[in-house]
Amino acid sequence: MSHKTNKKIILITGCSSGFGLLFSNELSKSSTVISTMRDLQKISNKNKDIDYLQLDVTNTQSINECIEIVKNKYGKIDVLINNAGYGIGGFFEDLSEEDIRKQFETNFFGLVNVTKAALPLLTKNKGSKIINISSIAGISSSPALSAYTSSKWAVEGLSECLYHEYAPIGLHVSSIAPGPFKTNIYTSNAKLATNFHNKNSRFYESSKRFLINQNKLVKKYLEDPKIVVKLVLKIINMKNPKYRYIVGKNAIFEYILKQVLPFNLFSKIINKLFIG
Ligand SMILES: NC(=O)c1ccc[n+]([C@@H]2O[C@H](COP(=O)([O-])OP(=O)(O)OC[C@H]3O[C@@H](n4cnc5c(N)ncnc54)[C@H](OP(=O)(O)O)[C@@H]3O)[C@@H](O)[C@H]2O)c1
Repeated sequence: MSHKTNKKIILITGCSSGFGLLFSNELSKSSTVISTMRDLQKISNKNKDIDYLQLDVTNTQSINECIEIVKNKYGKIDVLINNAGYGIGGFFEDLSEEDIRKQFETNFFGLVNVTKAALPLLTKNKGSKIINISSIAGISSSPALSAYTSSKWAVEGLSECLYHEYAPIGLHVSSIAPGPFKTNIYTSNAKLATNFHNKNSRFYESSKRFLINQNKLVKKYLEDPKIVVKLVLKIINMKNPKYRYIVGKNAIFEYILKQVLPFNLFSKIINKLFIG
């Protein structure tokens, strides 16, 4: 059955919680939203204006099946929001190769594969948009988050290159770099390195302090995710959005600190904040 409409067609990944859930509910007020998640059982308060589809960003078959349905139903995608992701905490030595590969499979290759599959539908019309949910960790850095940080630096590198490649044909690429916002990323969806709690690790004590400080930072500094929702709505309605949006007081502060301070001083401050 075809559902051709004049409304914008927006596809979002990772919509079972956090930003993805909020984007879906807000954007569905004015656009046709395809809200995807890897487990459709996780739909909370089904919204009749939203089209829910299964999509696991680490599973090529699931991506292709989802895009095929969208192609048959709507024939195009106006906005792709690559949002699905998670963070794994832990010092580099305590992360297994698998911990790091899995982090990249979701945060980087997931985004790569969804974008590749969606491009034929995104390039049907001029003025379509790809919005990648990166992180301040994709521009800055901190201890005990090397897997997450490097996966987001990869997202930033790719996004900048895609901006260069697609701007000439009228497909806009934007990257959003949020600081800490109140979603499930720091709670139920947080993951720790395989050897995070290993007493023989040289980082055992530092890891304990990292968790304590992370909990303190999270309580003190987490911002309202609606700020990011407003920004996404603004980008979608702009004719010519910018490439980079750093969002949240903490992210802007960290970004400025990194720009103005010599790196060794920046590192001392970041170590103090994260490890104590
Ligand atoms: N909140 C922040 O402070 C913050 C800051 C900077 C960047 N970000 C970025 O924002 C994005 C959204 O995170 P969030 O903060 O909203 O956290 P969240 O509440 O934990 O949401 C993450 C979403 O990603 C989904 N996801 C994880 N792996 C997936 C996969 N293989 N396939 C499809 N979906 C998958 C999760 O689904 P399940 O329920 O199935 O796990 C969940 O819906 C992430 O890319 C994150 O890195 C967040």
